Amino acid sequence: MKIGVYPGSFDPFSIGHHDVLMHAISLFDTVYVSVLNNATKHPLFSVKERVSLIERMVEAEGLQNVIVTSFDGLLVDYARSVQAGYVIRGLRAIMDFEYEFQIHAVNRHLAEEIQTVYFMASPEHSFLSSSVIREIGSMGGDISGLVPGSIQNMIAERLAKA
Ligand code: PNS
Repeated sequence: MKIGVYPGSFDPFSIGHHDVLMHAISLFDTVYVSVLNNATKHPLFSVKERVSLIERMVEAEGLQNVIVTSFDGLLVDYARSVQAGYVIRGLRAIMDFEYEFQIHAVNRHLAEEIQTVYFMASPEHSFLSSSVIREIGSMGGDISGLVPGSIQNMIAERLAKA
């Protein structure tokens, strides 16, 4: 069984995240999409909202091998707790590399047995980030094509109130 954890803030889950997830589920038996519950950050969407949005999308798309969770603490401890041997991350451009390089080095130091697998974002999504989506949505802009269609309205409504 190849089990992967796809961790992130997902504030909110974007079409770029969706792209990475689609690649991951084609290679892994089970993928945990795991929202970081980080007390030091101030996300717009609560952990509960983010988990529930991703669950909606998974249900609407009938994705069989995806489990949506949240986690506290170290990613490697969480990965071990669900018997995952792999961490899944997306890369958009060179700007992500340094950050990912550091996370990889720390995780490798803490848990040598856990491998990180990277998927390159599609070129048409390379400009996209959750913060761009939050900004567009909260200013009344159109977020279609930037988030999965199945949860677009819920995200737009929430951002309109932000
Ligand atoms: O979507 P993000 O915010 O880039 O995701 C970052 C994430 C969740 C992968 C990273 O912050 C993380 O793994 N945090 C858990 C704490 C941890 O394990 N820290 C050590 C590695 S930096």
